[in-house]
Amino acid sequence: MAINQQLCLQRRPSGEVCKEDFFLRETDIPDLEDGQFLVRNEYISIDPAMRGWIQDQESYFPPVQLGEPMRGLTVGRIEASRHPSYSVGDLATGMLNMQTYAISDGFQIRKVDPDIAPPPAWLGGLGMPGITAYFGLLDIGRPMKGDTVVVSAASGAVGSIVGQIAKNLGCRVIGIVGSDKKSKYIVEELGFDAAINYKSEPIGLALSDLCPEKIDVYFDNVAGKALDSILPFMKKFGRIPLCGMISIKPGEPARLDNFFALISNSIRLQGFVMSDYVPKIKMAVDELKAWHQSGQLIFKEDVRTTHLENFPEVINDLFSGKNEGKLVMKLSND
Ligand SMILES: NC(=O)c1ccc[n+]([C@@H]2O[C@H](COP(=O)([O-])OP(=O)(O)OC[C@H]3O[C@@H](n4cnc5c(N)ncnc54)[C@H](OP(=O)(O)O)[C@@H]3O)[C@@H](O)[C@H]2O)c1
Repeated sequence: MAINQQLCLQRRPSGEVCKEDFFLRETDIPDLEDGQFLVRNEYISIDPAMRGWIQDQESYFPPVQLGEPMRGLTVGRIEASRHPSYSVGDLATGMLNMQTYAISDGFQIRKVDPDIAPPPAWLGGLGMPGITAYFGLLDIGRPMKGDTVVVSAASGAVGSIVGQIAKNLGCRVIGIVGSDKKSKYIVEELGFDAAINYKSEPIGLALSDLCPEKIDVYFDNVAGKALDSILPFMKKFGRIPLCGMISIKPGEPARLDNFFALISNSIRLQGFVMSDYVPKIKMAVDELKAWHQSGQLIFKEDVRTTHLENFPEVINDLFSGKNEGKLVMKLSND
């Protein structure tokens, strides 16, 4: 009889997430009731937001409680089913948490079609990051053909999709990244027009060269210094979707010295979370799929095959920029 292994929160991290913040628990798998199915998780999405979910702070999701399994989006295979729409062997994705097995009734679960893209892509370009990029750019950024669009964390899960969608719409796209290797990737493989390596040149200096006519849309994945440096380069009536603040550690304040540029240039700055768009997910995924299938949208995943307890060292790679594409854990069978 299979046992479910769960990665549970032991304590709230102070500073970097570490192994001691979690413990492994083994539980029996209960019998299925009518309308339920059993998923064996194969891939777990590793997201910057997870660092926030384990803090005791108000957010768009309640904090993970001490002793509870860590929250996480997964892709897994159905091993048993008493649900009319899900069959044994199907692949499915949803918030099934950091555990080897999950029972679901199908709520907010999507089927995964590996003929369209391999399973990890359903946690990236066809998953939460892709949907975030789609709505943040199109609904809040509202780029028009010919606009200049700048995006930070541009080679990552969200940023790489933002830049490619903007290119598909006929925009000029500049990506901000943290290494020359990532600069080369976004320009040569993803088709961005230019890249700025913020670790080797000041963003403001690079923008004064690259954007003499200023910026229509800045898609902000990082907040902090990057956002502040970009404000003076925004065009009148520019738009800034505020997607994430990975440069700010939990509990630290986020400051803006160039705040007045928002007023003087009538800039629209709007935060959002992907869950604002849950009723429209299918529409986004259908369009993302179509772009992908026509070769206009490249997905890249950085898949680490390992055990649940190694989650802390994997997630910390997001904050040091070691991930190359959407970071995903593949659960090892050894
Ligand atoms: N609003 C929403 O619903 C939503 C949904 C998904 C994600 N997000 C947010 O979107 C952002 C990107 O997430 P993702 O999943 O696509 O991650 P990602 O870009 O795949 O990976 C994170 C990247 O952030 C960059 N980074 C790390 N620390 C940084 C720092 N101090 N300053 C500047 N850049 C830093 C690194 O790239 P470099 O090497 O290029 O620096 C790193 O590779 C995050 O802020 C995340 O919280 C928001």
